[in-house]
Formats: sequence, structure tokens, C-alpha cells
Amino acid sequence: MSDLRKHIEKRRTFAIISHPDAGKTTLTEKLLLYGGAINQAGAVKGKKSDRHAVSDWMEIEKQRGISVTSSVLQFRYEGFCINILDTPGHQDFSEDTYRTLMAADSAVMVIDASKGVENQTRKLFKVCVMRNIPIFTFINKMDRDSKNPFDLLEQIEDELGIKTYPVNWPIGSGKEFKGVYDRSTRHIISFSANGNSRQADAIEADLSDSSLDDLIGPLNHETLSDDIELLDGGGEEFDMELVRKGKLSPVFFGSALTNFGVEPFLENFLKMTPAPLKRNCIEGECDPADDSFSAFVFKIQANMNKAHRDRLTFMRICSGKFERDMEVLHVQSGKKMRLSQPQQMMAQEREIIESAYAGDIIGVFDPGIFSIGDTVCSPKRKVTFEGIPTFAPEHFARIRHKDTLKRKQFVKGTEQIAQEGAIQIFKEPYTGMEEVIVGVVGVLQFEVFEYRMKNEYNVEIIREPLPYSYIRWIEETPKDPKELMLSSDTKIVQDFKDNFLLLFSSEWNINWATDKNPGLVLAEFNKD
Ligand code: G4P
Repeated sequence: MSDLRKHIEKRRTFAIISHPDAGKTTLTEKLLLYGGAINQAGAVKGKKSDRHAVSDWMEIEKQRGISVTSSVLQFRYEGFCINILDTPGHQDFSEDTYRTLMAADSAVMVIDASKGVENQTRKLFKVCVMRNIPIFTFINKMDRDSKNPFDLLEQIEDELGIKTYPVNWPIGSGKEFKGVYDRSTRHIISFSANGNSRQADAIEADLSDSSLDDLIGPLNHETLSDDIELLDGGGEEFDMELVRKGKLSPVFFGSALTNFGVEPFLENFLKMTPAPLKRNCIEGECDPADDSFSAFVFKIQANMNKAHRDRLTFMRICSGKFERDMEVLHVQSGKKMRLSQPQQMMAQEREIIESAYAGDIIGVFDPGIFSIGDTVCSPKRKVTFEGIPTFAPEHFARIRHKDTLKRKQFVKGTEQIAQEGAIQIFKEPYTGMEEVIVGVVGVLQFEVFEYRMKNEYNVEIIREPLPYSYIRWIEETPKDPKELMLSSDTKIVQDFKDNFLLLFSSEWNINWATDKNPGLVLAEFNKD
């Protein structure tokens, strides 16, 4: 095997997705502890009381250093080089959260065992499905009272439309949580809450072991035997091919906080999750082990310091090896360049790197030439990756400038910020740029936008919230969009490529529009 291939085969690049509070940060932290990347729990993110409030934008700016470094975490474990992509949640939930998934080769979905599938998981899950990447499920907080595990699996299957394969199975939950049964080794790993140490003890035992009654109680023993019989008889078969295609999700039960079930999860996950995969590009397919370097931009982070207009651009390497100071081609502008100060994040540290391989993420300083979805590659072999889709914003506002003399700056600011991908801008058909409709995925983006317009472009804006929550791109229409039959609370807008779109206040209205206009095809993502 070539040296390059060896490096790439060892890489695993995945995103962790969850609804806020399901335990994504806690699980990430525990994974990093195994890798030795951090040596103390609590190092990844502060306690909730330290987390910023929505309105406290200045604080957010101060904390930006943290959010930049936590965008991707790299660590090594048993010969693997693991890249965990953080998907911003809470108030930071934005299009970036979706875009990050475009850079991952697989996803780990953390679910709170007492809550099941929640809203944000649903949304993120849709993006994973669109990409057909393998999805692993970690059902967390088994040390608290949980829903019935069969019901949890049924909910995942019904709501998310993916089949499940429990790799292990829980014995009780909450105060009665006794551990998990590993279906492949046919062993029990027993759990006993260990005071305040937040580290559970694990004892292994066979299902036929006579001492099992003592360990988990006769009732649990009986329930477990019945459950396993049911799973082995009627459940899904394990099929690696289906896992790789994202059609079957291996499920693990555990408790991240007490560090129970995390190590078996990590070990199984590393066996099942793929090394960097081939990516589609306009020229055909791009093989990760190809000698020529290639990468695409999936995230741009503006520098909030006015004195430094530069931005940090994150790229996912898709093929070859990146070397510091190598000459690359920025495909969209046709310019050859050297990437400035390439850096990688190792847990808390940001460091300048000398080299990186397919699967890795690098951040580079960007004087303002990159856009989301752009390709950077070796000038010897040009490839162009398919762009990153535009995801549907959920909050909309009409924006205008307070001072009419500031029109030029207003246009420049909105266009530039939109180009970075922080907001999406739309216009009402046949109106000028005096006002625009801004759409965002997370409401915090409005505040970021307002702050940046004032500080970077010196424009004060007036924001009038609009009552829409759904946007659809018109893919096919039987007639001129203006003549479509639409309910009075549906709005027609255009993006700046002059595509027509519809804004709706409810899902009911979307159905109404497609019912009343046969031949109208609407899309939730725009792949232009
Ligand atoms: P998130 O990143 O998905 O938003 O979730 P995070 O890890 O921050 O966890 C949310 C809360 O759930 C935290 O409690 C965390 O300690 C708790 N938690 C995570 N995993 C488990 C688990 O396996 N069992 C139990 N019982 N709790 C768990 P918090 O009180 O909100 O914050 P903190 O004060 O502990 O930081």
C-alpha cells in the first residue's frame, strides 16, 4: 500500500448531531479523553451557566476563539486519526450546522433516551440522508429513566425512515439501569453508579452465567432473555452494506456522563465507519488516494475584529496530501495561490500545520476570495466539486437602511455577508435594493448580521420580522409564478440568481399550493 493510502485509510471524519442537551458535548468530551487529546472532562465547553445568552452578542464575539477551535477536533486512537466535526447547536444553530455535514463521511446521532427523536435531530438527519452517509445512533442518558428501548427504535425507524440494528441492548434504566448486553460477544457489561466519580464500573458476564441473577436481578435477567430472543428472531439482520449506504443505523445504548458504553461504542464505530470516500466532481469521481491534492470550502468564519477584514475558511481535503506552501488552484477564480497560514485544531489548540491528508479539515486565512462550495486543487489536475446546496432558512425579516445616503454600503454589506453564507437574501419581484428579505436558519444570525452591518459597513438597519417559517424553491411550475394560485399568507420572492421561491407560514399552506397548482414542484434544498 502506498504511503499516501496508508495515511488516508487511517482517517475517520465524522460529525456528531443531536438536539440541544441530548449530550453531544459530553460524548465528544469522553471520546477525546480516550484519545488523550484532553486530560480533563469539562475542557470542551463551559458549563451551561457560562454559555452566552442570545442577545449578548459582544460576549459571543469574545467567545469566538472557542467556537472557532471547536469547529473540528482531531485526535488519535489505536492507530486511527479521528476528525470530529462539531455541528453548532443551541443559539448558534445556523446553515453552518448543515454545511458541516457535507464535510463528514459519517454521522453519530445522539438521542436522549427519555425524549427520543427531537426536532433538531430530525432536521440534521434529513441532510445526512440526502448524502447517504452512514449514521450511527448513540442513545444516551440511560442512567436516567428512559423510554422503552423498543419504542425508541420504532420511533427512529418511523420518523426518520431508517432501519436500526441494536449492537447492544440496555438492562433497565434510571436507578434500575444495570448495564448493556453486547449482542456480538453475548456478554453483559454491568453498570453500577459509582458515587460522584462520574465513572461507572464495568463487569463482564455471560447471559447463561448462573450468577447473573445476583448481578442484574432475576426479573431483569428474564426481561433481557425475552428481549434478546425477540431481537434475534424478529429484528433486522446486521448488514454492513446497508450501514455504509446509510440505510441501517447501528444503535448503541449508554450514558456519556458516567462514561458508560462510550468505549465499546468508539471501538465498534471505528470498525464500521468508512475511511474517506470518493467524492463526486464535475469531471467524474475524485479518489481520496489520488496523488493530486483537492479540497472544497464548507465554512467561512468572518473575523469580527474590524482591523482584520480577513476571514477563516474551512476546507475539507478530498484527495491527496496538502503541504504547507504548496501552490494550489482556486478553481472558481482560476487563480493560482498559496494558502496562507494553514491550521488545524487539536482540541483546544490551533496550530500551523506542515501537512494534512484526505479526510482532514484545514482552516486558512482568506482575504475574501472564497465562497462556500469552492474547490481548491493542485494545478496539475483540475477538479471541480459539486456545490453545497442552499438549505432552507426558517426565519425571515424585511431589512432596510435607516439612512438613505447609505444605500451603497447597504448593498455591499448585505451582498458580502450573504456571499460568506451567513445569511440568505431575497427580493420581492420587481423591486430594487432599497430593502431585502433576509432569511436565516438560526435567529442569532439576525443579530450577527445587524452587528456586522453597523460595525463593518457603518450602516444601521431596520428589521421587520416576517411571519414565514418555510421556504421552497420552485423547481417546476405549470405557469408564470406570479399567476400561481396561492393562499393570501404565501409570499413570492426571488433570490439573486432570479430563481422564484415561495415563503409559507405553515406546512398546511405548502400542501395547499401544490394541491391547487397541479404540476408545481417545490424543493426544500436548492442544488444550484
Ligand atoms: P449538548 O451538547 O447535546 O447540548 O448536551 P450536553 O453534553 O451539554 O449535555 C446536556 C446536559 O445533559 C448536561 O447537564 C450534561 O451533563 C447532561 N448529560 C449528558 N450526558 C448525560 C448522561 O449520560 N446522563 C445524565 N444523567 N446526564 C447527561 P447540565 O446540567 O445541563 O450541564 P452541566 O452542568 O452538567 O454541564
